[in-house]
Amino acid sequence: MERRPVSIFRRTGEQIMNEHMRMDRLPRGERGAFTLDPMTSPTLPSRYYTDERIYRDEMRAIHQRSWCYVGHASDIAEPGMYFTDTVGEQPILVIRGGDSVARAFYNVCQHRGHELLKGRGRLKTRGISCPYHAWLYRLDGTLAAAPMTEAVERFDKTQFTLKPIALAHAAGLLFVNLDPAPLPFEEEMAGFAANLESFLPDVSRWVVAERLHFDIKANWKVVVDNFSEAYHIPIAHPQLSKVLEQEMVEFVERPRWTFNRFKSKAGFPGLELVPGSPYYAWQAWPHLCMLSLPGSSNLVVLRMAPNGVAACAERVDIYTPAGKAESDPKLLAVRDLFMHMFNIEDIAIVESVQRGLQSRGFDQGRYICDRATSWFSEIQLHWFHLQVLDALAAEG
Ligand code: FES
Ligand SMILES: [Fe+2]
Repeated sequence: MERRPVSIFRRTGEQIMNEHMRMDRLPRGERGAFTLDPMTSPTLPSRYYTDERIYRDEMRAIHQRSWCYVGHASDIAEPGMYFTDTVGEQPILVIRGGDSVARAFYNVCQHRGHELLKGRGRLKTRGISCPYHAWLYRLDGTLAAAPMTEAVERFDKTQFTLKPIALAHAAGLLFVNLDPAPLPFEEEMAGFAANLESFLPDVSRWVVAERLHFDIKANWKVVVDNFSEAYHIPIAHPQLSKVLEQEMVEFVERPRWTFNRFKSKAGFPGLELVPGSPYYAWQAWPHLCMLSLPGSSNLVVLRMAPNGVAACAERVDIYTPAGKAESDPKLLAVRDLFMHMFNIEDIAIVESVQRGLQSRGFDQGRYICDRATSWFSEIQLHWFHLQVLDALAAEG
């Protein structure tokens, strides 16, 4: 199979702003005056958030070729446990087999294309049974039985195995990649799991305490954009602003992920803490955003699944140590903060921005960046947009 061109990020290694980056790899004519320098570049042109053709290109170049977060090992802890999802607008299923191996497949029957499983749960039957004509698949994806096929000429069950998808584990998190020959996760996302586990060492053993869904009327990138910067916090999140120091303690930028560490002045109600406690945030290509609030053992994972050019399905998975899920008042405080404050405030913002991007009164703005990478810096926003352009350029 022909490999796609090597990404500018892979070519340049860890240093994003590097003289080897080539503007000619970015799509001409569409990027407007966007440049590689976040200090002076205008932002991504608004058509990247509104144009159906660009959205279709993104499906192929980004969502169907990248390692996309889908869940956690605890979601498929036992053989027969499964979940379904939509990645790059494709229906997928992830299931643990009788041999304890976790696998991912397209959630599509190989007879006539009916979807196989819905939602999540644990199979009570010995395999995956299609609801249409009852073809039965083993948990490793091979076809075990197909009713009335004994008299069908040249019918070979081995030809109808479910279509597999690449699956990777990292610090307990599960990622799939629809590319038939993807770069290994460990290479593409080098250092990500180690960084996460260095701050949350037990996260691979945590469980999802709460899973929230929000249908948002905004392009998936608007929501990621909003997560990527703290510039809006004093205005849009007055309560958060009261407890967060305006200081970037640490900023790590890697080809496919970033990490920010801030610190707290005080805790939210129910999350009492020592002033100076760390507040962590991660962003990973293409649409994974994570934060860990101080004062509790938690990891809040946001995943923005595109759902048309002007809509996305945000999923929020709140992780906590096993056994604490129901009762820990601190966890309930994290959930309530998220449900009733952060996300409500952010959803109103991103839906307004989407309407503005669709307006004829806006095209490109500016990244608010300084060379000190101050707490308000939008450098991570530029990092994200550069990857969008790079992926589209690699698609050709
Ligand atoms: S489509 Fe699945 S058995 Fe016919
Ligand atoms: Fe926000």
